[in-house]
Amino acid sequence: VEKVIMLAQRGAALPMSAARYSEISPAGGRSVNGAYLQQFSVAYEFPVIFTSGLFSPDNRVLVDVLDRIESNKRHRLMVFIDQGVLGSNPDIVHALRLYADAHPNKIELVCPLVPLPGGEGSKQGLDHVIEMQRTMVEYHMDRHSFVLAIGGGALLDAVGLAAATAHRGIRHIRIPTTVLSQNDSGVGVKNGVNLFGQKNFFGTFCPPFAVLNDIDLLEKLPHRDKRAGMAEAIKVALIRDKDFFAWLERSAPQLAVFERGAMAYMIQRCAELHMRQIGQGGDPFEAGAARPLDFGHWAAHRLELLSRFEVRHGEAVAVGIALDTEYSMLSGLLERDEADRVWRLLEALGFTLWHSELEAGHSQDHPLLQGLRDFREHLGGELTVTLLRRLGVGIEVHEINESLMLQALANLRTRHQS
Ligand SMILES: NC(=O)c1ccc[n+]([C@@H]2O[C@H](COP(=O)([O-])OP(=O)(O)OC[C@H]3O[C@@H](n4cnc5c(N)ncnc54)[C@H](O)[C@@H]3O)[C@@H](O)[C@H]2O)c1
Ligand SMILES: [Zn+2]
Repeated sequence: VEKVIMLAQRGAALPMSAARYSEISPAGGRSVNGAYLQQFSVAYEFPVIFTSGLFSPDNRVLVDVLDRIESNKRHRLMVFIDQGVLGSNPDIVHALRLYADAHPNKIELVCPLVPLPGGEGSKQGLDHVIEMQRTMVEYHMDRHSFVLAIGGGALLDAVGLAAATAHRGIRHIRIPTTVLSQNDSGVGVKNGVNLFGQKNFFGTFCPPFAVLNDIDLLEKLPHRDKRAGMAEAIKVALIRDKDFFAWLERSAPQLAVFERGAMAYMIQRCAELHMRQIGQGGDPFEAGAARPLDFGHWAAHRLELLSRFEVRHGEAVAVGIALDTEYSMLSGLLERDEADRVWRLLEALGFTLWHSELEAGHSQDHPLLQGLRDFREHLGGELTVTLLRRLGVGIEVHEINESLMLQALANLRTRHQS
């Protein structure tokens, strides 16, 4: 401590008052008392491509993406795959080998596909991340090589983290295989794993090299996961796009039976709205407190934890949407008939809007309310929650009345029982 104080006293430039920083030119310009303002910006861009038959030898999407920056070379690829995907699509191993064989001057698979457990298990702690990085070292992956991740959102998060922190960033390509990862998490810029009992505690912001969404990869996805991902589409429609909400209402019968055309449009539009928010919302790396894309998520994250991840992320988001919609209505922001439309859509798509983990009496120490406090802490002190003003219009609030929230929760239970 003494050393630090001495340095501060000796350096004539320290301490600088905040106001003085405005006088400093960026490095290269005039310095003030030996202080420079370092400043640069980095533009990010990555393609998000919707396709089918991604690994058909005549589909050039993957090979063109690999060629995007360094086109005159053979690219080294390491592939991590979700065991759930592998279980339901065992042919994928052969298909990828054939694809590489069809493009011998462009693709070198450095090793056989590496299977990893799918679902939340792949991102519990750092074990899988370390294992992946060990494999990267073994096969001499460098910053010009590619790590491909084929799987659900959980696996993409874990592989993305392993790639982002190996050599300070190996290029990674996401190939999402769930509705949720195609329409939401996969097109985002975050990765991470759960640590110290906290979801996504250990993670980075690191945009992928590309995102390749193949609708065929969803064919064998269990119905439960096909449905879960639709919650994110309802979420983003509610805060950003009333026409999309109306489309979801009209298309509910087709979506409820996972009709391919309706699913494809729902996924693409939802991904587009997420991309727009991240790219044009002014805060891609979430420096500020407002998180519009986290509508319904404070309760969702808490419910996932309470259920020890028995309840899927999307299923929990559906409950979070129902709860924050009900609260928006109770607090006088949203008309009752609009709140009812949200409720009807969630039900028409087959979501269960009550779970046993929520049965904990209705006192101020209800375990769900801890989710609000955690969320406040996660944001750095000031709570910012998105509620609904109208269908398609979100609104940021900084205070939640806990008694009213408990009332909203009680209403959810009553509706579920009736
Ligand atoms: N990074 C972000 O911005 C972000 C955003 C939202 C959610 N997430 C994370 O995403 C995760 C949830 O992802 P998810 O909903 O995609 O589910 P998931 O990754 O948990 O996968 C669910 C199950 O489906 C299996 N599976 C995946 N694809 C399959 C396929 N095609 N066929 C058969 N089985 C398949 C998996 O093995 C797993 O058992 C959560 O951990 C959540 O925190 C991250
Ligand atoms: Zn989500």
